[in-house]
Amino acid sequence: MSKAIVQDEQGGPEVMQWRDQPLAAPGEGEVTLRHTAIGLNFIDVYVRKGAYPMMTLPGTPGMEAAGVVEAVGPGVRDLVVGQRVAYVMTAPGAYSERRNVPADRMVPLPDDIDDRTAAALMLKGMTAERLLHRTDRAVAGDTVLIHAAAGGVGSLMTRWAKALGCTVIGTVGSDDKASIVRDAGADHVIVGSRENIAERVADITGGKGCRLVYDGVGKDTFEASIQSVARFGHLISFGNASGPVPPVNIAVLSPKCIALSRPQIFPYIADRADLLATAGNLFAAIRKGIVKAEIRDTFPLADAAEAHRQLENRRTTGQLVLLP
Ligand SMILES: NC(=O)c1ccc[n+]([C@@H]2O[C@H](COP(=O)([O-])OP(=O)(O)OC[C@H]3O[C@@H](n4cnc5c(N)ncnc54)[C@H](OP(=O)(O)O)[C@@H]3O)[C@@H](O)[C@H]2O)c1
Repeated sequence: MSKAIVQDEQGGPEVMQWRDQPLAAPGEGEVTLRHTAIGLNFIDVYVRKGAYPMMTLPGTPGMEAAGVVEAVGPGVRDLVVGQRVAYVMTAPGAYSERRNVPADRMVPLPDDIDDRTAAALMLKGMTAERLLHRTDRAVAGDTVLIHAAAGGVGSLMTRWAKALGCTVIGTVGSDDKASIVRDAGADHVIVGSRENIAERVADITGGKGCRLVYDGVGKDTFEASIQSVARFGHLISFGNASGPVPPVNIAVLSPKCIALSRPQIFPYIADRADLLATAGNLFAAIRKGIVKAEIRDTFPLADAAEAHRQLENRRTTGQLVLLP
């Protein structure tokens, strides 16, 4: 038996119930994990609502966690009982005390990466790593615009882009978040609730715009993002916290010859070698102090609904962790 957050239907935070769930012995290629820390992601909100149809009902949300191997199923050779691991998976289910997971999606945790940091950063940190190094390559001298720069992914991208030598412009939804983005190293902060983002970017860049625009906000910022990209620049739309971006007429890319991408982390880490390499890059960046977990709030796993309310209502900064 394991306690877990379970939803019988899609909807608001109130559909998430804390209850007992049966747990079988691990099957072929699986291990049983006892979660020690679980990362909260905006994608969990999309999954809870059904905007991303990744969970069958009744189901348990959550794509990212750290834990300890409690039991090893047949055919598993690389993991042993007691080993610390962390993971990101497309199959939801992380909002649980225990679960069975495929051994080949587990990343062994080095001694110097603690469980809360791993749970906070596996999904968001590997996303930041791939967006800055693979979707496009951010390099010294680039001017980059990062929306929701005080948020989970945004604060990591701000720090990482600064470490790469970029000039960083971060947007935030309210004044109280601006100092967090400045502390993360941003050169300029735009408060979207009272400033025109595209006009401010034009002022800051002398009308040139940004070579790279990272937009995880979606519907509300897409237009400003298009306006803020430099000639031959790249708009990387990687999320939709404010709602999905409406269908785009690709002709809008033509006047400035800009590229538009809509990446997600999972294809980048689908192969085990890529997963381990990307996680290794993230761990190295944590060790060097390039990025760090900024866990300002933890919630008991049973109170996941309250954590969702705060995330959806734009009341959080950095990363949130649920504790079983
Ligand atoms: N493509 C991928 O593989 C991938 C992976 C991870 C995350 N993501 C995406 O990255 C984005 C950030 O994820 P996260 O987990 O780190 O969340 P987060 O940034 O901590 O939270 C979302 C932030 O979006 C901003 N926002 C703007 N309009 C909003 C609205 N109407 N409702 C709610 N929030 C709004 C808020 O910041 P302000 O108040 O400062 O504007 C809010 O704090 C999400 O869109 C997520 O889906 C994508």
